Formats: sequence, C-alpha cells, structure tokens
Amino acid sequence: MEFFLDTADVNEVKELIDTGFVDGITTNPTLIARSGRQWKDVVKEMCAIVEGPVSVEVASLDYETMIQEARRLADINEKIAIKVPLTPAGLRVCKELSTDDIMVNVTLCFTPVQALLAAKAGATFVSPFVGRMDDIGHDGMDLIKDIRVIYENYAGLGANILAASIRHPLHVLQAAKAGADVATIPPSVLRQLYKHPLTDRGIDAFVKDWESTGQKI
Ligand code: G3P
Repeated sequence: MEFFLDTADVNEVKELIDTGFVDGITTNPTLIARSGRQWKDVVKEMCAIVEGPVSVEVASLDYETMIQEARRLADINEKIAIKVPLTPAGLRVCKELSTDDIMVNVTLCFTPVQALLAAKAGATFVSPFVGRMDDIGHDGMDLIKDIRVIYENYAGLGANILAASIRHPLHVLQAAKAGADVATIPPSVLRQLYKHPLTDRGIDAFVKDWESTGQKI
C-alpha cells in the first residue's frame, strides 16, 4: 500500500518526507485555499520534494476549460496527476488525457459504479471519499471493498484505488485490509500511525534497564 500525504502545506511535507512514508501528494482546491499560497508555487515546491505523483485538481467544470487547465498542469511536471471530478465532462477529460499517458486521479467518488466509470475512462487513480461517507452515516469502507471486487473481476480495469477522506488510523488499517492501492493521509494521521502507549512504556523500560547496566554499544 502506498501512502500519499493529503495536504497543500509544503512545510508539513518537508517535515515528513524523511520518514520514508511519503510516496506522493494529493491536493484539492480546499487544501490549496487553506495554504494561503499561490497554487503554482505550492505545486512546483511539492514536485521538487517528492518522487511520487502530485495530484492537482482542475478548477473548471466544463470540458473545454477543464482540458486546457489539465494540459497547463501537466506541462508543469510529469509527476503531476490531474485531478478531475467524477462528472461526464471530467471523465471525458480523463479519457483524453489517459490516451496521452498523462496520469489522472478521478476524485469525489462515492459509489462503486462511479469507480467503474472512472476505470473505464482510463483513470490512473480513483479517489473514493471514505470519511465523507462515514460523515453521513454510511460505512465508507464498504465503498473500497466493493470497488476492489469490481476491479478484480476485470483485469483490464487498471485504476488504482486511492482511499481518500481519511480521518484516523483505523481508516488506514481498514483501507489496507480492503485492498486499497493507496491511502492519502492527512499529516496529523500519518503521525498517529506510529503511536501506541505500550510502545512508549516499553521504550521507557528498556532505556531505564539499559542505563542500569552502565554499558555502551
Ligand atoms: O483530498 C481529497 C480528500 O482526501 C479530501 O477529503 O473529506 O478530508 O476533505 P476531506
């Protein structure tokens, strides 16, 4: 399973890149707005820091403008995956870009059949929003499971399941058990993945007992 960071905060990426667990980045218009910075500066700096895909979302909703935006984004860096919404125009753009070997991340996916459309449109990634499904009382992880079943049935469907809208470590665990290819994780949740009180307690005991030996390695 690959871990992407779900953020437009370059400082967070700089801080976490050395963990070795940052395989890519996903941004969206809300995250860019939250950064308070110019989108192009954020995107270029992200591409300079990470090896993996950097997802950047188009801003328009009509096909003609969306495809122009997508090509401008793609021209910035080959690491960029173009994020398009799961709409008829978005999937038309996806199909066109995929024939030019440009990575596409189809976002705002909330049903398995939407994910089937995205894969048939040649998506590199499909982003089912687990947390937002949970937020309205559904089990968002069922979405990941159903998409996995569908994609396994058809070898030709090459989209990667990118579990998105991750709210806590349990989502990461459940997405891994459900067979998601990627989880895009807020920086705060990535930091939580390390944590367990018994790990902390065990370290404290080992340090104390080692110090009592007076030895050095
Ligand atoms: O960036 C896509 C997705 O992960 C955002 O989810 O629900 O935290 O806005 P959310």
